Amino acid sequence: MSGAKDGRSRRQNLATQPLKTFRVFTRPGVLTEGWYPLFPSRELKAGELRSAEILSQRLAVYRGADGVVRALDAFCPHMGADLANGSVEGAAVRCALHGWRFGPTGCLDSTPCGVRPASEPALASYAVEERYGFVWVFPSARPPYSVPVPAGLEGTELAWRHVGSFDLYAHQHVLMASGIDLQHFFSVHGVAADFGFSVEPLGPGRADWRVEGELTETGLMGAAARVAWGERLRYVARFSGGTVASLSYLAKAPWGPMYVLWGCTPLETGLSRVQVFLVCPRAQGALGAFREAARLALTQLLFLVLKRDDVKAFPNIRFQPGHLLRADACVARFIQWVEDLPVSRWTAGVEENART
Ligand code: FES
Ligand SMILES: [Fe+2]
Repeated sequence: MSGAKDGRSRRQNLATQPLKTFRVFTRPGVLTEGWYPLFPSRELKAGELRSAEILSQRLAVYRGADGVVRALDAFCPHMGADLANGSVEGAAVRCALHGWRFGPTGCLDSTPCGVRPASEPALASYAVEERYGFVWVFPSARPPYSVPVPAGLEGTELAWRHVGSFDLYAHQHVLMASGIDLQHFFSVHGVAADFGFSVEPLGPGRADWRVEGELTETGLMGAAARVAWGERLRYVARFSGGTVASLSYLAKAPWGPMYVLWGCTPLETGLSRVQVFLVCPRAQGALGAFREAARLALTQLLFLVLKRDDVKAFPNIRFQPGHLLRADACVARFIQWVEDLPVSRWTAGVEENART
């Protein structure tokens, strides 16, 4: 066993290399307020019900007869049966054990034994949206924003491709930080540029990191980067709630900007799982469909090249901002931003960090 993806590195070398404590950043068990990807939409047909787990939170997720997906806390308030074992009736769920039925907001709406229906929820319900062919859930009924879109694609009809589900070598926030780790573009990806950055808050829990730099690279990677970007490399990293990130590469090339978005769910190991999507504006007509497919294929190539480089550096990482330099200011700012994110009601039984 390599151990690279089991999170053991968090517990290693604690005597000789103590681990810094975070409120949120790499703290296992913390579920921030944000959108979490659950499963592909096609896996839940009308009238179907299934169980979903995000760390210590179990949900019953169902698609009503009206086609709308809903999510409730899983355990029946009567005696605790898992509602995901029950059945869907219209827009409601009936428990398998004694047949109590709950509406989409978690209110009891009928029982076989004549208990009076209630107007107050007996169960918490959660906001659900479908986007990029996936079901997403938010840890409250009233999310402050919808499932995010990459910067530059707001209000645009979108095409997308789900590239796959990947288990990370690191906590999801470390992966996000690597998206704006300006030093690693040269050391890991071989692209040298004189980068600067600015941060634009978009509201609670959301912000755009705008990164721009003059390409100084002269080698093969520099030549390839110039074809795509011109003399200045520009991109926007959009972070939402600590669970969704997107990169908008503002390419000058004929195919236009490229967009990659990923949604994360933390794992018990302290590591995480990401669902990766390629996104672009929806094109019209046969030629448009061809251009759309070509654009998504090029975006996928970019993603695979970056991923191939990153997986050389990430195995066994135990992220530790021990000696941040002035050149790491972008990462330092991101860590501080994550530390201030609101933590959701789903955070329970959080593992204590090792003492510093
Ligand atoms: S446990 Fe659900 S109705 Fe009794
Ligand atoms: Fe990278």
